[in-house]
Amino acid sequence: MSEVVRISDFGRHVGQEVRVQGWLHNKRSSGKIQFLIVRDGSGFAQAVVARSAVPEADWAAAEAAGQESSLELTGRVKEDKRAPGGHEVDVSAITVRQAVHDYPITPKEHGTAFLMEHRHLWLRSPRQHAILRVRHAVVKAIRDFLDDAGYTLVDAPIFTPAACEGTTTLFAVPYFDEGTAYLTQSGQLYSEATAAAHGKVYCFGPTFRAEKSKTRRHLTEFWMVEPEMAWAHLEDAIQLAEQLVSALVARVLETRREELKTLERDVSKLESVQAPFPRLHYDDAIKLIQSKGSPTQWGSDFGGTDETIIAEAYERPVVVHRFPSAIKAFYMAPDPERPELSLSADVLAPEGHGEIVGGGERLADGELLLKRIREHGLPEESFRWYLDLRRYGTVPHAGFGMGIERVVTWLCGLEHLRETIAFPRMLYRIYP
Ligand code: 4AD
Ligand code: MG
Repeated sequence: MSEVVRISDFGRHVGQEVRVQGWLHNKRSSGKIQFLIVRDGSGFAQAVVARSAVPEADWAAAEAAGQESSLELTGRVKEDKRAPGGHEVDVSAITVRQAVHDYPITPKEHGTAFLMEHRHLWLRSPRQHAILRVRHAVVKAIRDFLDDAGYTLVDAPIFTPAACEGTTTLFAVPYFDEGTAYLTQSGQLYSEATAAAHGKVYCFGPTFRAEKSKTRRHLTEFWMVEPEMAWAHLEDAIQLAEQLVSALVARVLETRREELKTLERDVSKLESVQAPFPRLHYDDAIKLIQSKGSPTQWGSDFGGTDETIIAEAYERPVVVHRFPSAIKAFYMAPDPERPELSLSADVLAPEGHGEIVGGGERLADGELLLKRIREHGLPEESFRWYLDLRRYGTVPHAGFGMGIERVVTWLCGLEHLRETIAFPRMLYRIYP
């Protein structure tokens, strides 16, 4: 029996007879020849079944197989420049493992609600396949970049005793005799502890926000990478974010061209993404959006439209820095020159994709930190350990969080971030 070869490896098997294990994506027939588009997870390829070249039973089985039938075939790999993926198989035998006749997602247009309800199947379509492959490349690029830069991966817990990013978006979970635990909103506070142990760290895992907002940019469960550096300031965090974003754009352009083509992404918009990015002080960002008609006043956070206005003023990602402390989390260090401002920075993606990175310099001073915890009405008792970090060898430190789904949405040029995670969790969706 021939060797099982994945479609993505066809290039190394031209002229050889191989076995392909996969599913029927689509087909057409001329009576004497069936053209099957087969997918095997690694890619899509056309399999040419000539009536004269296969046993009669195999021909009949292929003819009776509908979309998403599982099948195994044997055939010779041929180069064909016009074929998707550049290759074709001349089939000599085919076994249908399961003939399917009622696959719910047909090549016709379906509404999003229907597709979301069938997300477990929708994942097989070329677009969804391409998006998740871009996501994988992004995750790998982030890990490679940080690992190579000397960061140690130390993951943060998911059950936590208190809020990190504000009390309004917490998911509460009953936790034995300890009372209530909360699903983490960010691993940052724990990364501050591990940064004091390892110097440069990152955590990379799922985070949870009980966001009541039903927008195209919010999930209730999303993945975030959070690097944290000891002995570092706002500027260091900004530079790391610029370099990281640039590195992963470059990697996706290098390794996921095919997928970006499937997604009809205009890659010229990505090719110009290179550090450093333009910088905009919050004061100037407010002036900019007001000059374009935004009603947002100094002291407020930006709305989605504001972020789009800012991003549209530049062709590249832009860094907005020094937001008012009042609209930022309790742990932000104040700007020594203007204490009403925080040493914070967001990176906004171009083309209206909004905030992809948020971070800054942390409050290193224990007394001020305690004051902030009280002002924010946070449970002091749960932050005892966090305050210890300011008691035993406190240093300036900084970091940021980057949301994976936001980044993939931008890179793929999607309307909504729900397609960038296999099984999205949103305000009105927890199935499948
Ligand atoms: O700006 P955020 O809330 O920052 C933090 O959580 C910090 N503690 C991170 C840090 O400094 N270590 O969130 C960071 C990023 C955002 O820029 C965005 O990309 C993403 O997380 N994000 C979301 N992504 C999807 N759905 C949501 N509901 C998100 N909320 C934030
Ligand atoms: Mg933010």
